[in-house]
Amino acid sequence: MSASTSAARQSQPQPSIEPILRLTAADMGRVNDMILAMAGSNVKLIPEIAEHLIASGGKRLRPMLTIASALAYGYQGESHVKLAASVEFMHTATLLHDDVVDESDLRRGRKTARTIWGNQASVLVGDFLLGQAFKMMVEVGSPPALRILSNASAVIAEGEVWQLSAAKRMSTTEDDYLAVIDAKTAALFAAATEVGPVLADAGEAACTAMRTYGRSLGIAFQLVDDILDYGGSSADLGKNTGDDFREGKITLPVIIAYQQGNEAERAFWRRAMEEGQNDDAALSEATALLQGRGALEETVARARHYGHLAFEAAATLPPSASRDALTSVVEFCIDRVN
Ligand code: IPE
Ligand code: IPE
Ligand code: MG
Ligand code: MG
Repeated sequence: MSASTSAARQSQPQPSIEPILRLTAADMGRVNDMILAMAGSNVKLIPEIAEHLIASGGKRLRPMLTIASALAYGYQGESHVKLAASVEFMHTATLLHDDVVDESDLRRGRKTARTIWGNQASVLVGDFLLGQAFKMMVEVGSPPALRILSNASAVIAEGEVWQLSAAKRMSTTEDDYLAVIDAKTAALFAAATEVGPVLADAGEAACTAMRTYGRSLGIAFQLVDDILDYGGSSADLGKNTGDDFREGKITLPVIIAYQQGNEAERAFWRRAMEEGQNDDAALSEATALLQGRGALEETVARARHYGHLAFEAAATLPPSASRDALTSVVEFCIDRVN
């Protein structure tokens, strides 16, 4: 962030998740109680690992979206709390697994479970949480909600495997990348928001609008996350930046810089991503090349485009505090890059 941008930030109110936090506060209290209860087990290692990750926070964005999208359509029952908890469990399970796959050391500002308890325990506790998520979904007894969330669970795993097979290949295209993030990230956002109108029995148009909202928001969210891996700060993110580069993960900023680079630059990217010449000096050079080719700005522009689609989908709702909350989440997600 430049000095002038940072001065501008201080003089204006920043987009925040405050509206959705306020809207969902009461229900989220119950979601959190349910999360803690469902993380329990007589097998001590399970609550130890689950609570390590759960107690370290996280934005709880996805369960708040489930609550808000149910309220947005006038839902008055109790099932949104259970579905929100199951959505956060699916996310938590994914993070436990993802940190093993990505060999990450830092998550939510703490050492990852895998660095403390090892990969085996992380994978198994992730499986436990996924099982608990499905128990809660089944208890809700809504076949359409179960179909949407179970489909997302399979699609996320598919996206992670797809990404693994695309790693270290500079032939990865923008379409490949978009398909991966659609699956690994946007599918859960879309499911989290679609189950709101499903519970409220709000009809097909409402479900389509909320699915589009969540999916577009999820794509924008991951695009921003991939920018921050090069331009953000580890302290703000609670995870190490530069991980994507060190892993040879081909994200959109890299695809753009590679497409636009000259022969020497393209050779650099191949050495770094395909042959693993990715030490700190290479990371500095990569960041300079991304800047030189405007690749981060271009990725921000794509994120804004998807943010706009999410915004338009939310605009189909009648005016309400829920609609305002859903809209402000879009601004918050995009603004993370500033
Ligand atoms: C991290 O998601 C995984 C991605 C999709 C990039 P969040 O940034 O929502 O993670 P927490 O839950 O707030 O830690
Ligand atoms: C996070 O993906 C997990 C999923 C979305 C499945 P990433 O590997 O891109 O995100 P971080 O950087 O670890 O949070
Ligand atoms: Mg990761
Ligand atoms: Mg990953």
